[in-house]
Amino acid sequence: MTFRKLACFGIPALALPLLVANLLPVFSADAPAEKPPKPPLGLPPVQWPEDNPYSAAKVELGRFLYFDTRLSADSKLSCASCHAPEKAFTDGAPVSTGIGGQKGGRSAPTVINQAWNTWQFWDGRAASLEDQAKGPIANPIEMTSEKTSDEAHAAVVKRLKGVPGYMKMFEKSFGTRDITIDHVAKAIATFERTVYSGNAPFDRYNEGDKKAMSDSQVRGMNLFFNKVACDSCHLGFNFTDGSYENIGIGMDKPTPDLGRFVVSQKDEDTGAFKTPTLRDIEHTGPYMHDGSLKTLADVVEHYNKGGIKNKHLNQRIKPLNLSDQDKKDLVEFLKALSGEGWQQIKAPEKFP
Ligand code: HEC
Ligand code: HEC
Repeated sequence: MTFRKLACFGIPALALPLLVANLLPVFSADAPAEKPPKPPLGLPPVQWPEDNPYSAAKVELGRFLYFDTRLSADSKLSCASCHAPEKAFTDGAPVSTGIGGQKGGRSAPTVINQAWNTWQFWDGRAASLEDQAKGPIANPIEMTSEKTSDEAHAAVVKRLKGVPGYMKMFEKSFGTRDITIDHVAKAIATFERTVYSGNAPFDRYNEGDKKAMSDSQVRGMNLFFNKVACDSCHLGFNFTDGSYENIGIGMDKPTPDLGRFVVSQKDEDTGAFKTPTLRDIEHTGPYMHDGSLKTLADVVEHYNKGGIKNKHLNQRIKPLNLSDQDKKDLVEFLKALSGEGWQQIKAPEKFP
């Protein structure tokens, strides 16, 4: 998978610290507990992990690391290359292009609202955002064949230690300059937990503003929650129950991606992928783990025809016999899930 090809810093550590970073106050152990930002309407508070609580300093450090191309071996890719703010934290491509222009087999999911998503990746193979972040920044595939993942991690940390501006930010965030790869991952994860989408027309409608959604969107909502029961999987405020399901995507290929099966080794997980959030879905196409469906209309058509037949197809995926109007209404409803809370996030203007 190409995103795994991202290894560690490939360029010499930059020696010039930023003036700005020099002016940051140093960490103080007895600073009052900070209040995290409140997610927009429709979203509950974030449960911050006990071993990685919120702090504004960590969010800022995480943002710098997230956008820093020095996290890739060829200094060309950052997390944002494949999860770009201007593309609703995806890359707008069917599958991602990693280092050296290599194409992977899976589409980059959005980082939006991952704060409420424990298991990461389409197949749920990472147990947290912290876990996930270590993959792309320190995968040994891009390094010499002898190198282990531990060595790759050590190399990243060494590079960062050579950047005084970053060291100040780490000290402010974690109270130490003696950093490990876990500090790097924690900072990135903290930043990711502040990327939200809420206060969508759907949320305002739910709060009582009956003008927030069009008639078509209201009809689509009723289909979604009642007749068609999309919410048997796309459930709750984030429109996912976190389950892995086979809806047939890619199962007509000669060698299908086995999805969750690779992690669980359970036969019934063959071709099952994590049910994704539908928040801001209007902006995160193309759709599905392999980016095989271009538009929301294509997605609705996929469900309407009963998915792609295969031995492990979820029983709830069957022909829906939707009218053209029903299909339009469903698409319109999905657009009512476009919200706010991520558009303000930008790359730093200068890096340490
Ligand atoms: C080359 C493109 C690329 C780069 C660079 C990249 N990613 Fe990803 N990312 C992907 C792809 C593709 C997936 C899905 C892979 C899978 O599920 O097997 C993914 C998955 C994720 C997920 C899981 C989301 C979910 O719904 O489960 C998160 C979070 C994430 N990436 C964050 C990051 C962070 C943080 C970085 C930088 C340290 C990063 N990515 C760098 C392409 C990329
Ligand atoms: C049986 C569970 C299930 C049901 C029912 C279901 N979905 Fe999904 N949905 C999924 C899974 C799993 C995926 C990801 C599949 C993949 O990539 O292989 C998905 C993907 C999607 C996507 C693309 C998301 C993305 O980020 O690429 C959209 C849009 C979507 N579903 C909308 C709907 C609508 C509308 C309905 C009702 C007509 C519906 N879903 C019913 C499980 C379900």
